[in-house]
Amino acid sequence: MTILPVVWAYDHVRLIDQNRLPLELTYVEIRRALDMVMAIQTMMVRGAPAIGIAAAFAIALAAQEVDTDDRQAFLEHLESVADALRQTRPTAINLFWAIDYMLNTARQTIGSVTFLKEKLVETAQGLAIDEYNTCVRIGEHGLACLPLEPQRLTLMTYCNAGALATVGYGTALGVVRAAHAAQRLLQVYVCETRPRLQGARLTAWECVQEGIPATLITDNMAGYCMAKGLINAVVVGADRIARNGDTANKIGTYSLAVLAHVHQIPFYVAAPLSSVDWTLADGSQIPIEERDIEEVYRIGDQWLTVPGIEVFNPAFDVTPACYITGIITERGVLSPDQLYQLQP
Ligand code: MRU
Repeated sequence: MTILPVVWAYDHVRLIDQNRLPLELTYVEIRRALDMVMAIQTMMVRGAPAIGIAAAFAIALAAQEVDTDDRQAFLEHLESVADALRQTRPTAINLFWAIDYMLNTARQTIGSVTFLKEKLVETAQGLAIDEYNTCVRIGEHGLACLPLEPQRLTLMTYCNAGALATVGYGTALGVVRAAHAAQRLLQVYVCETRPRLQGARLTAWECVQEGIPATLITDNMAGYCMAKGLINAVVVGADRIARNGDTANKIGTYSLAVLAHVHQIPFYVAAPLSSVDWTLADGSQIPIEERDIEEVYRIGDQWLTVPGIEVFNPAFDVTPACYITGIITERGVLSPDQLYQLQP
């Protein structure tokens, strides 16, 4: 089964509603740019590369919905949608990267508004194809850097950095997928990833769909599994990587990295170069999204605690580069201190 979370379908975008997985596989048609803003905000589509592509398609939708021949008015409409998109989720740099790429294309393309409309759809589709190919290359490079022993590896992953978080292959889960295809995977341990359970709901679902052998654990079991010698390597995704390799990813990634370090288990970050924020010298400046406290209070309708208790709900944390063995990109695997070599 090919999992395609974000697809341009002639005149609209078709999204998998990730909030309904794994209970229902539901597709939603997004026809207006501001509906895509809402879809990103409510995490119907989520995962750094996927929200980047969703934002690119939102700009393409914005271009279709404006009824003017005036280039300036057209560009102003795109800018206003871009502003709304920028307010959705602050941490994943891919969102901002894709918005800027689309706006620059619009500004730099010579021709009529009709021509620009076509060009923007074509450009967003091109970004989606590039994203897919990038993930396949990340999978290949990741496979090549995994420990040589044992022949069949047990990997651990966190959150969902799979097909659903990209546009059909995955970064961290792309490495797992490549290991499975090469018969180097014994199994992958999937951490459930509280509070939104992207591991339990999404990564587990992908693994079952694709026949990838996987074991689900709650987040607090990771250290025990490592101490027992069950894990050969950890592979996670990234939402934003600073120039020195410090990496923001789903809250809890930092704890896993420290655990892996203590147990001398290689800890890899798999991400496209579009996840690197070259303007940041280190991770201290990465904006960390805080989400609704309801996510911690309950799962679905089920209350987990008592009303009145204070709750803190940061959605991401920053793993210092010193805990990262390698960053797996589409151009190869680098130690964090070599990353600057790939700066454009
Ligand atoms: O809040 P989410 O579900 O968008 O967070 C997703 C993650 O943290 C992923 O690990 C990251 O975006 C990499 S996805 C290839």
